[in-house]
Amino acid sequence: MNADGPLLLALETSCDDTAAAVLRGGRVLSSVVAGQMEHAAWGGVVPEVASRAHQRAVVPVVQEALRQAGASASDLDAVAATYGPGLAGALLVGLSFAKAYAFGLGVPFVGVNHLEGHLYSAFLADTPPAFPFLTLTVSGGHTMLVLVDKRFRHTVLGRTRDDAAGEAFDKVAKLLGLGYPGGPVVDRLAHDGDPAFIRFPRTRLPGYDFSFSGIKTAVRYTLDPIHAHVPKPDRDALLGKHLPDLAASFQAAVVDMLLDPLERAMLDTGAKAVAVVGGVSANTSLRAAAEALCLKHGATLSIPPLRYCTDNAAMMGLAAQHRLAADGPSPLTLGVAPSLAL
Ligand code: KG4
Ligand code: ZN
Repeated sequence: MNADGPLLLALETSCDDTAAAVLRGGRVLSSVVAGQMEHAAWGGVVPEVASRAHQRAVVPVVQEALRQAGASASDLDAVAATYGPGLAGALLVGLSFAKAYAFGLGVPFVGVNHLEGHLYSAFLADTPPAFPFLTLTVSGGHTMLVLVDKRFRHTVLGRTRDDAAGEAFDKVAKLLGLGYPGGPVVDRLAHDGDPAFIRFPRTRLPGYDFSFSGIKTAVRYTLDPIHAHVPKPDRDALLGKHLPDLAASFQAAVVDMLLDPLERAMLDTGAKAVAVVGGVSANTSLRAAAEALCLKHGATLSIPPLRYCTDNAAMMGLAAQHRLAADGPSPLTLGVAPSLAL
């Protein structure tokens, strides 16, 4: 190991991205992500298709990450992989690879929680948050609000009771016939739409929990001629000239439902630093609204570059380094934990 810390290879295969990264200390030397286009035709991730695609991609992705870092396998001091939460068969590919690789090289293996990876991604922002900070993790699989203190102890303040925020974008995009993944398309369309066109209901739960199943149903009923009690223009106009307005109205409701618990948590905890991470943090309206919210309360906002917001192995590597330093290596008997919580 050199003075700047261990050279670590991290793998991430919890869903539909095969990712590998090489880190030295807190520095990311390479971060390679191979997405899977195979799922687009199905309107969502097909678990078995994902596992097979990971198997095809894992060796070339690791080789590319080592090449870009200018490292060879024999230089590595540790190998890490996500062991949960995620799709069991998908996790198994990266986890098995990492354990075998570490065993073969005779170096420590570290299993990492995917959600901890998203938390650590805040430190990959240009201006990392100061402790204590609130992290809003918003992805296709997760929506949670976490308070992180200076010893990196975290308290989960709230989580979604049903759909994740990204899942709501994807499902509503499917209802609107916009394809998968839905977030980027809805975001683009919403840009030219009127967010006040339809005032969708905003779900507000006690505490800091989230719920996005209601907004999805609200959009569905708006499009459904049987639900005549919902006042609306006709379906053709909604899916035609008013499509941007519909997208903007839906997006405005989601942003409000994300930021309302965040604002209450800022006031209740006194935290003056906020990080927004996960794939949905790419959303232009969420970014603008989060910036305005932080400005209003004199708080700083950290949003990592998009490549570190969507699933990647660099964030898993950062989390792995902390895990290794704090708890030491994981046993090679560690199995996948598809429902692992934070
Ligand atoms: O973090 P991520 O890559 O994967 C998970 O861990 O789930 O997040 C993917 C999610 C998808 O649901 C996608 O629709 C959403 O992030 N997303 C967006 C935008 N870009 C990606 N949602 C809203 N607006 C966007 N611009
Ligand atoms: Zn994720």
